[in-house]
Amino acid sequence: MGDEPKFLRPNVIIEPLADGFYAWLHTVAPVQAAMNLAFLQVPLLESYLQSPQVHIAASNNPALRGGFFVNIDEGRSAGVRDLLASIKRDRAPMLRFAAAIAEAEEIVRQGATGFDLTPLYPKLPAELAGLVEIAYDTSNQAGLRFIEPLVYQSSAYMQDRQKVQLSLDTGAERPFILSTPRLSSPDVLELPIPFRHHGLEELFRARVHPTTLSKLREALGLGDAEAARLAGLLTDEPSYAEDRHIDGGGRIRYFGHACLVLQTPQASIITDPWVSSAAAASDHFTYRDLPDYIDLVLITHGHQDHIVLETLLQLRGRIGAVVVPRSSRGNLCDPSLALYLSHIGLPVLEVDDFTPVEFRGGQVIATPFLGEHADLDIRAKSTYCVQLAGRTVYIGADSSGIDPVLYRYVRDHVGKVDMAFLGMECAGAPLTWLYQALLTRPVTKKMSDSRTLSGSNAAQASAIMTELGASEAYVYAMGEEQWLVAHVMATTYNEDSVQLKQVAEFMTWCAANGIKSDHLFGQHEWRWS
Ligand SMILES: [Fe+2]
Ligand SMILES: [Fe+2]
Repeated sequence: MGDEPKFLRPNVIIEPLADGFYAWLHTVAPVQAAMNLAFLQVPLLESYLQSPQVHIAASNNPALRGGFFVNIDEGRSAGVRDLLASIKRDRAPMLRFAAAIAEAEEIVRQGATGFDLTPLYPKLPAELAGLVEIAYDTSNQAGLRFIEPLVYQSSAYMQDRQKVQLSLDTGAERPFILSTPRLSSPDVLELPIPFRHHGLEELFRARVHPTTLSKLREALGLGDAEAARLAGLLTDEPSYAEDRHIDGGGRIRYFGHACLVLQTPQASIITDPWVSSAAAASDHFTYRDLPDYIDLVLITHGHQDHIVLETLLQLRGRIGAVVVPRSSRGNLCDPSLALYLSHIGLPVLEVDDFTPVEFRGGQVIATPFLGEHADLDIRAKSTYCVQLAGRTVYIGADSSGIDPVLYRYVRDHVGKVDMAFLGMECAGAPLTWLYQALLTRPVTKKMSDSRTLSGSNAAQASAIMTELGASEAYVYAMGEEQWLVAHVMATTYNEDSVQLKQVAEFMTWCAANGIKSDHLFGQHEWRWS
């Protein structure tokens, strides 16, 4: 029993969790995770427990979509109470670490007056000893710099917070990840294992290579009841598309949002991987359509819709390297993507602006990424030029045209671009939506609203195209594929949405200027010989 060859069902989904909350960069990287736990997630759970009805009503109000409300039935509030109690008990070192950061920032604000900083070190909270440096910039503004690799080694990085939930995708919308923790449920297989656990690699390899229930049971360390649940996630037949590889020329496939697969017969590249499981999919690509092996994964930036752990965990074991932009090394708002991903077992290659990365038959060049981070000093962001099968493809993600001259320099460096992929979420969320827990000094609403996570509008996208000299423009990364993005982005568009009007205006400009353009939705394919 349990020794027949088995494949993973195509519609299996995994939710990686940290203390019950969906895992993403700011809930896993230790400095930011401590701040989010102490200053966002604990207060959110406390607020829910005070008045669950308010949270439930707000969660069901379309006008408040994407707000910070816990969407859990009152009948399950005991589970929320247990979660809060376990966080306060088991995560005390993280909560103290977060309080220490807030305290240290205040010490630096008060004490760093342009003079010698040496006297401040003994005043810092003990939790930060050995983990921070205080430094001035050249305009005499002082700040804390975290020695981030050491924070991962400290008691602030608690790997036992991590667990995963496996289930079958029913097509139902999942709760918003930034606000609603996942409780245990009979419908899901919950495994208290860290994300780097080798058993997960074994499990997801079984999308392509058969394994057995016994092997998986051993790899994941399952008891009888868990093994029985796992059996329900397996099937006798593989599920992959015959045309997932090509035998000549080049191909690009749009998988939804910012995820593109670029292929030649020799190599495959995926950008900002976010792949749909196969539930009810006939109009978009899924895991069935991925090449068996992916040479390079290109990550553009740390927003939760571009570095999607849920997909990355499923690719581990079938990728050459994950290419990530280098961070500022220790800035509170700018966690290292390389440290984050290498600590969950992914092979990482860190790049700076204009670093070239070779792959079989082509080259990737990391190029600058401008704006879209609420004017915070975040360096871990990159666009890319991919040269393959005779074409140069610009992967622009959410980079904005705030200063389009930048793109003239990019063109000087990489040559003429053939196809440009541009994000145009030009009315993005305000500063506090994503960074609230990291702001140790409150900002006014007016200030926050003025600083948004916005990509290019029509005029900026047109200017980027002019400077790049690209002949084809494709608008993507708009958060429109609800089956993929709803629980992560909580976007809503209608025909009056300014973003969609700006896209239409940009496409009119493209047509008038002899540039081929399209507004991508669902799936799309380009093929050339
Ligand atoms: Fe973004
Ligand atoms: Fe985005």
